[in-house]
Amino acid sequence: MTIMQKFFWFIASLGNIGAIYFFSQTETYLSGALLIFTVAYTAIGFYDIYFSRHNLNRLYPVVAYIRYFLESYRVEIQQYFIASDTEERPFNREERSLVYQRAKNIRDTIAFGTQRNLLEVNYPSLWHSLQPQTIHDEAKRVSIGGPDCSQPYSASYLNISAMSFGSLSANAIEALNLGAKKAGCYHNTGEGAASPYHLKHEGDIVWQIGSGLFGCRDDDGNFNPESFAKTAKLPQIKMIEIKLSQGAKPGHGGVLPKAKITQEIANIRHISMDKDCLSPAVNPECTTPKALLAFIQQLRELSGGITNWF
Ligand SMILES: Cc1cc2nc3c(=O)[nH]c(=O)nc-3n(C[C@H](O)[C@H](O)[C@H](O)COP(=O)(O)O)c2cc1C
Repeated sequence: MTIMQKFFWFIASLGNIGAIYFFSQTETYLSGALLIFTVAYTAIGFYDIYFSRHNLNRLYPVVAYIRYFLESYRVEIQQYFIASDTEERPFNREERSLVYQRAKNIRDTIAFGTQRNLLEVNYPSLWHSLQPQTIHDEAKRVSIGGPDCSQPYSASYLNISAMSFGSLSANAIEALNLGAKKAGCYHNTGEGAASPYHLKHEGDIVWQIGSGLFGCRDDDGNFNPESFAKTAKLPQIKMIEIKLSQGAKPGHGGVLPKAKITQEIANIRHISMDKDCLSPAVNPECTTPKALLAFIQQLRELSGGITNWF
């Protein structure tokens, strides 16, 4: 018997008898409340010990609910009272505060410098050179596109990684693209096709063509050169990224269930609303290295010579 079970039997027997006696002698609010407490405690505890499906309730009658209650606030307690400013993932409090401050256009610096321990062993940091150099503008960007490419692209080193419309909302896609335009970097569409929200603000776009060939496929899911060429020639599309397989779901591919396919997503991806949408494990146009090279050449010609990579 656990200590809480012993406590339960103590309240259920002597506790109730004592409370009834106390109430019969005094008939005050306090003794009434005490009696209600012991009776309620007995009823809940009895249910927990004999009928509950949870071991925790059976072993720790009544108090187990305190544990469930605290657990339901675990994230908030951890975040507000326990975690330090720098230890949460994927974004810690320090990083989130910086984003909030910049989004609100308020000061983002902290008096007295950093709170981090820069002298910690192996702390990753950049140190001043004893021979400082002027950084030329060309060094801040990288040119992508070989000799066969008639439209090489000068890319920023930091860009916005692939996240599809559908996995992100229209507002989020628009905000990212506007950010790309302001920052002078590119915005990768993700495999869910180049949506109107990617194109609206005219930030640079890398169109990702994944195994589902979304945005450049026919009704049977085969590559459609005409619809590819139409989108690839838009001025916002600066490069094409071919995704060979589903890295996050190796060997399986992805499924967008029918229930989640809106008319808008169907139009943008060129898919049917009547069945689940499959992203196969393998890109059907790139099953061998030779097929991949032929596909790259085909895309280069159809797009008017923009950079393709995989
Ligand atoms: C909501 C969401 C959607 C994503 N969609 C794609 C996608 O369509 N294609 C792709 O290659 N990666 C996709 N990714 C992976 C990201 O591009 C990125 O590689 C991944 O999030 C790792 O980077 P991070 O550590 O900065 O999050 C997606 C990630 C997220 C969070």
